[in-house]
Amino acid sequence: MTQRPEQIHEELRRRYAKVAEQPKGQFAYPVGKESVERLLYRRNFLDLVPSVLLEHFVGVGNPFSLGEPQPGWTVLDIGCGAGFDSLIAALYVGPTGKVIGVDLTEQMLAVARAGSAAAGVNNLEFCQGIAESLPVESSWADLVISNGVLNLATCKPTAFREVFRVLKPGGRYQAVDLVLVAELPEKLRNDQAAWSN
Ligand SMILES: C[S@@+](CC[C@H](N)C(=O)[O-])C[C@H]1O[C@@H](n2cnc3c(N)ncnc32)[C@H](O)[C@@H]1O
Repeated sequence: MTQRPEQIHEELRRRYAKVAEQPKGQFAYPVGKESVERLLYRRNFLDLVPSVLLEHFVGVGNPFSLGEPQPGWTVLDIGCGAGFDSLIAALYVGPTGKVIGVDLTEQMLAVARAGSAAAGVNNLEFCQGIAESLPVESSWADLVISNGVLNLATCKPTAFREVFRVLKPGGRYQAVDLVLVAELPEKLRNDQAAWSN
């Protein structure tokens, strides 16, 4: 890789600031409400999600299909974007639990904060930060989720170390993501725009 991590993060912030404005038409995979419905999130929770958060869902799967959070759990959503999964986690864990959503891009977090305020939950907070250096104390989370994010991390081993640092012993990491099934051509590996796509 010829780009520095800071350059890639800058490019990612630019890209996701645009996604915060208009998520439609920016991805090669389905996004928004139609995608959420196909991914079989719990129907009774979907009715409680403000439409702005449904529209801004740009994840690639359903992390709760790997296991449902329990009441009282602490959950960290890495690369929470506009906070759809964070809000669903907050509904699962209830008032005795707590959810933190972390994202690189302030504009996505602004949508997330407005959406969760509209939903009226108070066990959910959002903070700006990066997967490679999470702003969360060690051994805090019962569950860490990420949806379409770790493929964007500039250093995967560091990001995975951070996941395991913030997890409680015996905690779970449930990730859904895009994965490479073949070696990338060098030209693409060195293409800065491709690192933020
Ligand atoms: C494909 S979107 C997924 C958003 C959200 N998880 C969802 O399902 O709608 C990727 C998100 O990850 C954030 N992101 C990208 N690289 C990141 C990093 N290194 N650390 C934290 N967030 C990152 C972007 O700002 C963007 O909001």
